[in-house]
Amino acid sequence: MNLINNLEWSAEIINRSGKEKVANEIAAKVKDGDVLGVGSGSTSYLALLAIAEKVKAEKLNIKAIPTSLEITMFCSKLGIPVTSLMEHTPDWLFDGADEVDPNKSLIKGRGGAMFKEKMLMRSSPRNYIIVDESKVLDKLGTNFPVPIEVFPQALLLVENGLKKLDATEIKLRPAKGKDGPVITENGNLVIDCKFGEIGEGLEKEIKSITGVIESGLFMGYDLEILMAANS
Ligand code: 5RP
Repeated sequence: MNLINNLEWSAEIINRSGKEKVANEIAAKVKDGDVLGVGSGSTSYLALLAIAEKVKAEKLNIKAIPTSLEITMFCSKLGIPVTSLMEHTPDWLFDGADEVDPNKSLIKGRGGAMFKEKMLMRSSPRNYIIVDESKVLDKLGTNFPVPIEVFPQALLLVENGLKKLDATEIKLRPAKGKDGPVITENGNLVIDCKFGEIGEGLEKEIKSITGVIESGLFMGYDLEILMAANS
């Protein structure tokens, strides 16, 4: 046993059995030689568990491109070799989301991994997003603000830019259980921002503010939504 082998997912997983069913559907898509993009969050973790079982049982050779340190460590624990976008392009990816609308636009980034998740989605020809019914909404922004990763020195610049985009609430994401802000794996801050209306061009408008690294708005991507039944 070592520290990585002892790693467990401690956070509560909502609708676990419904998501496990879809995780098995994802695992069934894995073929020998695949390079898989692996999203972050509890749903991606469940899919990774199902994939690891299949890979072991069928002795498949696959590689994973993880989107966070956390999921990298779980790949290591599960014996799935890891690579990066510098060496490989993914054949396909799976990920979760916080909100999905009828156009398949997404809000992601509750875990703060949206920059790597978006880079991966831009690189991947096939994208599977697993959600349960609670995440499917008529309008983006109903339950979650839009997370925006910001270069720290640009915080005020970005705040002013977001005000010009008619943001209705702009909050710096606090660190969990300690003082100060959340710092992402890239050394940046996260702003959680509410808008009256999330229009078609908003993803690009946010990205055009100098100092914005990336937002958790995903609009117009080619993706397949896999629905997990609420359990
Ligand atoms: C992390 C994400 C996650 O995919 C999103 O927050 C959903 O998480 P979960 O599967 O735990 O509900 O975007 O940056």
